[in-house]
Amino acid sequence: MLPFLPQSPQAQSIANLFGTITVVAILILLLVTGLVIFAMIRFRSRGSLEPQSETHDRARLEITWTALPILLLAVVFGLTVSTMQKSDPPAAAGQAPDVIIIAHQWWWEVHYPKAGVVTANEIHMAAGQRYLFKFESADVIHDFWVPQLGRKIDMIPGHPNQMLMQADQVGTYSGTCAEYCGAEHAWMRIRVLVQSPADFNAWLKAQAQVPSPPTTGDAAQGAQLFQQLTCASCHTIAGTPAQANIGPDLTHIASRQTIGAGVLDNNHQNLTAWITNPQAIKPGILMPNLALSSQQVQELVAYLETLK
Ligand code: CUA
Repeated sequence: MLPFLPQSPQAQSIANLFGTITVVAILILLLVTGLVIFAMIRFRSRGSLEPQSETHDRARLEITWTALPILLLAVVFGLTVSTMQKSDPPAAAGQAPDVIIIAHQWWWEVHYPKAGVVTANEIHMAAGQRYLFKFESADVIHDFWVPQLGRKIDMIPGHPNQMLMQADQVGTYSGTCAEYCGAEHAWMRIRVLVQSPADFNAWLKAQAQVPSPPTTGDAAQGAQLFQQLTCASCHTIAGTPAQANIGPDLTHIASRQTIGAGVLDNNHQNLTAWITNPQAIKPGILMPNLALSSQQVQELVAYLETLK
């Protein structure tokens, strides 16, 4: 189905069901409309006030118009159940998840447990490969939805869900949180970057590396500030004492395309604005306005930009 541009067998099955039901619904609409127009013309008043003859006790007619809708609904039910199986096929028993997504107000924590990689908001996948995703929540109910890749799935605190996901084509696919979860629900965007297997493996390898701390200039000052200020109480940067997970892991922040779960492109100007006052950009988030001097902001940005 073209309007949805499905890019996985799972999303394809949902688009097929939508297409089939749309065609059936249009046929019913045409049939009912046609019958109404026919009856209006055929049985219109011809000036006489005598009531038209009415149809009674036509058992066969009654049975037909009861049975046909039941049959039609049974077919739609069957197609729906079959789509549910195709769009969310069961994983092998005991299979360990390839990717773990933990929803937070209002961003996504992304783990690749087998590679020991942690990132945020941008999910990388190799094209054509099937991944078992596990979905959790750190706070309230969120809902993960990347329409071109498959169904929605709720992320419920204390009740992990899982789903097999794959993407057929290299490309970037957008998604969003699909369950109202508070003030910044609208800025809980998902970006899925589907790469060739070689590019994906190169990315994963780079993400697993521990960045070497900068030794000179603003970046070195920024690295110190990061540990001295409250940054380190909420964020992780591998290879440093900062190991908290209240906010996103920043080990490779400079390799990401956006900041704040899609609210801004990740560039020098936006990173500066974000650290200066994140509350002005995404009001209500946990990261406070730290009231830093512009010198401090500049040093922190210089440091974060080294974390490729
Ligand atoms: Cu998370 Cu809406």
